[in-house]
Amino acid sequence: MKVMVLGSGGREHALSWKLAREGHEMLCAPGNAGTAELRGARNLPFDPEDPAAVVAAARETGTELVVVGPEAPLVAGVADALRAAGLPCFGPGAAAARLESSKSFARAFMERRAIPCARTARFSGPGAGTELERFVAANPGRLVLKKSGLAAGKGVLESDDPAELLAFGRSVLADDELLAEEFLEGFELSVFGVSDGKEYALLPAARDHKKAYEGDAGPNTGGMGAVAPEPRADLALMDSIRARLVEPTFSGMSAEGLAYRGVVFLGVMVTASGPKLLEYNVRFGDPETQSLLPILPEGFGELLRGAAEGRLDPALVRAFESRPERAACGFVVAAPGYPGPYPKGIAVRSLPEAENPRGLMFHASTTRASDGILHTGGGRCFAAVGLGADSARARENGLALAAAVDFDGARFRRDIGALGGRKRNGTWNSEGLSSG
Ligand code: AMP
Ligand code: GLY
Repeated sequence: MKVMVLGSGGREHALSWKLAREGHEMLCAPGNAGTAELRGARNLPFDPEDPAAVVAAARETGTELVVVGPEAPLVAGVADALRAAGLPCFGPGAAAARLESSKSFARAFMERRAIPCARTARFSGPGAGTELERFVAANPGRLVLKKSGLAAGKGVLESDDPAELLAFGRSVLADDELLAEEFLEGFELSVFGVSDGKEYALLPAARDHKKAYEGDAGPNTGGMGAVAPEPRADLALMDSIRARLVEPTFSGMSAEGLAYRGVVFLGVMVTASGPKLLEYNVRFGDPETQSLLPILPEGFGELLRGAAEGRLDPALVRAFESRPERAACGFVVAAPGYPGPYPKGIAVRSLPEAENPRGLMFHASTTRASDGILHTGGGRCFAAVGLGADSARARENGLALAAAVDFDGARFRRDIGALGGRKRNGTWNSEGLSSG
């Protein structure tokens, strides 16, 4: 089948790699230097956030399935435009994409559907700054503040410093709604349900590492590396996540007219009192996808097409829900300064082969100049994904691959895949405020 993948990141490289490997003819819009080198793939340089341009390109090329990588095209209505034109699309329309583009909308949905999540207070409109001041004073210790709208993983601050919380909160309130959450202690999982609007396949859980530095220190990022499957996500935990979070999500989406053909990504914190939902995304995770796809069975293209056409095959659902036989551990190699300002266009001196005995190298937004030299293009430049029979071997392989990437200022977290949780030091006092 001819498949078009929208986006230029590491997730899109991994999607295109998996689909090309299954023999599908791939169009990557716009893709990167890594997708340009995939056998059976070609890059198409156009703006994937422009619905009319996507429909025109899909028609012109005879595309049979469009797979939308990032959230921005979905929020811009690309999936709606494709479906209106009769073209199969993996990804939700703009209305359901609000589950990701508005944390406030998502939180209200979780509360209506009684899905376990962190206690939350909301702030917006005139007087919100003063309310926030009172709230921060009444809740000493660690709090999590979130911008409601899209922020590429950078709209979240965890802090126990009142001055820092207030400064961040005020900057968000200048043009958006603010959410304040209790800090949940535990370990995070990324859980993906591929849906055809009626049935779904729950893929093996991955674990991302959101903080910039080793030991989970520093600011939040889009994700610095991921393991798949996460060894602690055993059958009992996955059953509990399915019953407490996934089932009520899909039944709630159906009841509220939000059901869609695509993937629902649940960001989960596994706490001492069970799994709790942190957030929804309406697309695959980056960098989770780079670690997850290499360990999934054959038939991924058919799974996505079945979802997009509203007819998931039960045999494929069973195959994709089974425990993988291999493990993956992916290390993001980032540009110096990321997640703050970083230089682009850094020349890459050396990079392991795309497919090598230790695993796989995925690019994000890279370009190759006419002299053949590869240049970085984003903050998270590459994902070095180690593969192995178990997570320890996968981790060793991923570390060796990441260490072999050479460009000025290249940086990665060495502790991806090392087990660990987080500690809470706060109390919660939402007295006098509307909270959920
Ligand atoms: P979100 O965009 O809501 O997933 O938040 C980004 C990251 O912040 C999450 O992946 C967690 O690492 C962290 N985080 C968000 N909310 C909480 C919370 N209530 N308690 C602890 N950590 C959180
Ligand atoms: N890695 C987290 C995300 O894709 O949002």
